[in-house]
Amino acid sequence: MPVKYSQSMSKSLSSPLLCRILVVCASALAAISCSDSRGNLRVAEIPATPAGAAVEIQAPLGLPPVPIPEGNKPTADTIALGRKLFYDSKLSIDASIACASCHSPIHGFTDGLPVSLGVSGQRGKRNAPTVLNAAYLPVQFWDGRAATLELQAAGPIANPVEMNQPHDAAVGRLGSNAEYKKLFAQAFGPGPVTIGKVEMALASFERTLISGNSPFDHYQFGGDKKAMKPAAIRGLALFKDQNKGNCVKCHTIEAGYALFTDGKFHNLGVGLSAEGELTDLGRYNETKVEADKGAFRTPTLRNVAHTGPYMHDGSVATLRRVVDFYVGGGSSNPYLDKDIRQLHLSGQERDDLVAFLEALTGDMPPNATPLAATK
Ligand code: HEC
Ligand code: HEC
Repeated sequence: MPVKYSQSMSKSLSSPLLCRILVVCASALAAISCSDSRGNLRVAEIPATPAGAAVEIQAPLGLPPVPIPEGNKPTADTIALGRKLFYDSKLSIDASIACASCHSPIHGFTDGLPVSLGVSGQRGKRNAPTVLNAAYLPVQFWDGRAATLELQAAGPIANPVEMNQPHDAAVGRLGSNAEYKKLFAQAFGPGPVTIGKVEMALASFERTLISGNSPFDHYQFGGDKKAMKPAAIRGLALFKDQNKGNCVKCHTIEAGYALFTDGKFHNLGVGLSAEGELTDLGRYNETKVEADKGAFRTPTLRNVAHTGPYMHDGSVATLRRVVDFYVGGGSSNPYLDKDIRQLHLSGQERDDLVAFLEALTGDMPPNATPLAATK
């Protein structure tokens, strides 16, 4: 879906709470404001446009073309700026935490923890998903509360249990830094640093964090039948078999590529309390639809061998335990997805499924590490 920015009709409205509007709540003629899911008032900001020539992001074997929004074609300068921002702890209130603290290339762009730790060691309540291949997701976050990478990016900066830095403070800090001033001008042309430009640069960098070309991709799409070990080949068959794993029902494989997610929300019964209550209502918090209680967006399984612990609350430590959880039919609760039921898989078959999941480790994108100048 293309990202569009609404036009601010009245300059006098530009409060310090500068922000952008989701296109669905924007009206071309009225200078209106809306709140994000945390209640931060958002007022229209003048849209930015990348200044340089658009660059093409090559999709590796096993993945489709990277979706690019019309209003934010990635350029060499916006990607480089986003890369610098992603690894820069200046985005957090006490300069202690960067995006990469929780999405580190060392852990497949996660933090390796059950739930993330923000500034001053504050514990969040959810597991950090990988940012690899997030460019393909139809919605961001476990509960889908952000529609695009652009709209996702500013969330963690202001989130009190993540970076805890109000947007105007973050923008002020970057705008008074000579190097950043130059880099923003290079990327977007003259004008002030805005939160919209920060979001656009981060999103463009994230669109380069594409990982495919795994042993599975060579086997499935490259015609190399020796690319996966026999155990992984058996695991793939179980993964697809309706009467065995039926995993492909939600972790999808298409004819020419595989994202391993349907982009939809399902309740597996993860995170029930001792009393059997759902501890996180997930998608329901966004939609208030009863059937969405405890439902979370299907995660991709690419690089999953490196992104543990697993599930939205990080409650499952290993892939073998994830498979055992499915064999048991998830955790019973009134909203359990109809496609989650007990499975009949032998010990060997469970190991084969794990071997298959391990064959989904792809190449790290060339851009993955911090720029040489940053720590
Ligand atoms: C304190 C740890 C932490 C920091 C810092 C952090 N994130 Fe995250 N990130 C998370 C967690 C936890 C989630 C999942 C939250 C949820 O779904 O409710 C997440 C979700 C995401 C997602 C959605 C991925 C998906 O599969 O839905 C993206 C993209 C992302 N973060 C990018 C960023 C960027 C860009 C920054 C820096 C501006 C950042 N994160 C900073 C922990 C963090
Ligand atoms: C009904 C849809 C559905 C089916 C069928 C399904 N999954 Fe999932 N899978 C999900 C959802 C949704 C989650 C996240 C659930 C949560 O955290 O509450 C998930 C999580 C996972 C995870 C953890 C990934 C991570 O990054 O935390 C793995 C691994 C996994 N599934 C593998 C499998 C395997 C193997 C099968 C088949 C035996 C399977 N799934 C069948 C929807 C499904």
